[in-house]
Amino acid sequence: MRLFGSHAPCRNVIISEPYSQLRLRLDRFAQESPKRLADALEYSLLAPGKRLRPVLCLLACETLGANLEQALGNACALEMIHCYSLIHDDLPAMDDDDLRRGRPTCHRQFDEATAILAGDALQPMAFESILGGRLEPPALVESCQVLAWAAGIRGMVGGQMDDLLEENRSQMQCDEPNGIEEPPEKRLDSIHRRKTGAMIEASVILGAIAANATPECRTALAKYGRGIGIAFQIVDDLLDVESTREKTGKATGKDAARGKLTFPGVYGITESRQMANRWVAESLAALEPFNHQAEGLRQIAKYILERHS
Ligand code: IPE
Ligand code: IPE
Ligand code: MG
Ligand code: MG
Ligand code: MG
Repeated sequence: MRLFGSHAPCRNVIISEPYSQLRLRLDRFAQESPKRLADALEYSLLAPGKRLRPVLCLLACETLGANLEQALGNACALEMIHCYSLIHDDLPAMDDDDLRRGRPTCHRQFDEATAILAGDALQPMAFESILGGRLEPPALVESCQVLAWAAGIRGMVGGQMDDLLEENRSQMQCDEPNGIEEPPEKRLDSIHRRKTGAMIEASVILGAIAANATPECRTALAKYGRGIGIAFQIVDDLLDVESTREKTGKATGKDAARGKLTFPGVYGITESRQMANRWVAESLAALEPFNHQAEGLRQIAKYILERHS
């Protein structure tokens, strides 16, 4: 995986550090964990994913010229929540997928109960990672608040619920119309902003908090995060249609079959691609107040449009 060009050696630290830091934290937990749970956690958390969220967190911190070590606890926490969301997303009760990051999904490699518990374990572990990091109040408290917001009902979990309610409402015996009166474009936007966008926006904000950002800088970075967050899920929807299992390391061609509400489903491929481009352009515009130090964030924005996995 190449998030950055080879001319950016300092970026290597930002790419490699999340893996080492996650390993360190896992090793600490492993001593006190039932072995099967520790194995499942290692299997999923250290699998070859992009680790985009911790990278974004560290890049936001770098953009503001702060010490990256300040942000490591927050960076790991983001990947822990993200990893839990993937483990649960793949369960038979949700998207029922067999392949993730080029390997059998956690419940396939282990079993459903272990996968559920591994996801459960990652949630408090994420908050412990923030609390055990370098931050002090108020940045510490605010980091916990932002992550709780993004991961919870108003963010990822709420978005996941509505994502599932869209496919097969009758099968889920849902009594409430749950926003059915809204046009699909609105429902789609709302789901994608929450299920994926919230955690990506939070990734940048958690880096900004760790860097003690001014309110202006934080607002600009949050705007950047919002744009790439929605673009990221548009491209994920496009990859499901246009790419392959081999390239993405996960099942493709399933969203439409399951009746998911997706960008290509609502707008078609060409229009969806244009929308992703427009969101990334907005994100890049939000970085204008920053100088060359935002170069890493700019490269990530472009990578999100070009990625194949
Ligand atoms: C997959 O996220 C789930 C979505 C939010 C679309 P990523 O594409 O970041 O997955 P990994 O972490 O690289 O495996
Ligand atoms: C999931 O979206 C977003 C999460 C919060 C995990 P998808 O269901 O589209 O993600 P993939 O395609 O399985 O990675
Ligand atoms: Mg899903
Ligand atoms: Mg899925
Ligand atoms: Mg998808």
